[in-house]
Amino acid sequence: MSSRLEAEHLFKVFGRRPDQAVERLRTNTADREELRSDGVTAAVIDASFSVEPGEIFVVMGLSGSGKSTLLRMLNGLLEPTAGHVRFDGQDLTGLSGRELRDVRSRKISMVFQHFALFPHRSVRDNAAYGLEVQGVPRAERERRADEALALCGLAGWEDSWPDELSGGMQQRVGLARALATDADLLLMDESFSALDPLIRRDMQDQLIELQKKLKKTIVFITHDLNEAMRLGDRIAVMRDGRIVQIGTAQDILIRPANDYVASFTQDVDRSRVLTAQAVMDSEVRGDEADCACETATPGTSFTDLCAISARVPHPVAVVDDGDVVGVVPRQRLVGFLGDEEAAPGVCDSPRDKGGKVMARA
Ligand SMILES: Nc1ncnc2c1ncn2[C@@H]1O[C@H](COP(=O)(O)OP(=O)(O)OP(=O)(O)O)[C@@H](O)[C@H]1O
Ligand SMILES: [Mg+2]
Repeated sequence: MSSRLEAEHLFKVFGRRPDQAVERLRTNTADREELRSDGVTAAVIDASFSVEPGEIFVVMGLSGSGKSTLLRMLNGLLEPTAGHVRFDGQDLTGLSGRELRDVRSRKISMVFQHFALFPHRSVRDNAAYGLEVQGVPRAERERRADEALALCGLAGWEDSWPDELSGGMQQRVGLARALATDADLLLMDESFSALDPLIRRDMQDQLIELQKKLKKTIVFITHDLNEAMRLGDRIAVMRDGRIVQIGTAQDILIRPANDYVASFTQDVDRSRVLTAQAVMDSEVRGDEADCACETATPGTSFTDLCAISARVPHPVAVVDDGDVVGVVPRQRLVGFLGDEEAAPGVCDSPRDKGGKVMARA
């Protein structure tokens, strides 16, 4: 059984008098820039979220936005200046060094960008490393390492040396090492960023597949929005130490919290992210389902929706559990693909006062 991870008002300040800096940030008597001119870095400011078992929670942000600092507080490598981290009902912030090391070795695994494999150990012994640290007997750790390697698509490579493997395969050994320990919490910091695009895509797919089986609690850090949207059940967008939005890929695409988030999403291929649920007009619950035409479900991908729309002579009905929950007129599809202000055909879609197309979840 995996466990829930909770971050509660986390702050990390580097420099002089960190507690005082937190107080000034809390009371709005100083901002990050003012602190910086005093030589103080507020790396993480008031971060709160919870991650459910089985979820991939992605933290996305530019270089220096505080992602790694946040992650290091989650596994106790860095002590928060203020706030709490709870995992499996336990407050990690209150633990002694020794208790923390114990929790880290049993419950939490990290996968880094440049995963350091031991060159003079076999692939199996590399994958078994975390178990060795835990003192698991050899036969058992080899069995579990082999299982984890198989999960990561490396069956047959157990007795090879790291330098016989490609970069992508080496990264998978890193992932296998993390999985072999049975840790519930998997923390991944830019784990796929050093890989070639195709291999990277492959690893993303593999992680999604693995997660369906393993249902770990995963926090994945990336500065790549496309990766965030592919992997994340939810995404936290960080800017200058603060989380500025938490939401699904669709939320972030359709309802960016501010111009900063919106500017990030400009280059995203919307057709890959959006589903019928996000683009449908749920005000209209027409009787199109009465005809024998093809319908969509809320989860139908945008691309499939376009194909259905091309075959159906009227708006596509979105059907959930036998009920029509919305419709998608063809011009609405066009509107969602481009810049919504400029796109023709979305004039008939409901808009909020800010002029954004409203999509109801
Ligand atoms: N040990 C430290 N001492 C002082 N400042 C630090 C320390 N660690 C991080 N910082 C600062 O905190 C801020 C956030 O850094 P962090 O490494 O968390 O960012 P990041 O989002 O992971 O960036 P990247 O994408 O480049 O990895 C940066 O301004 C960084 O310089
Ligand atoms: Mg980092």
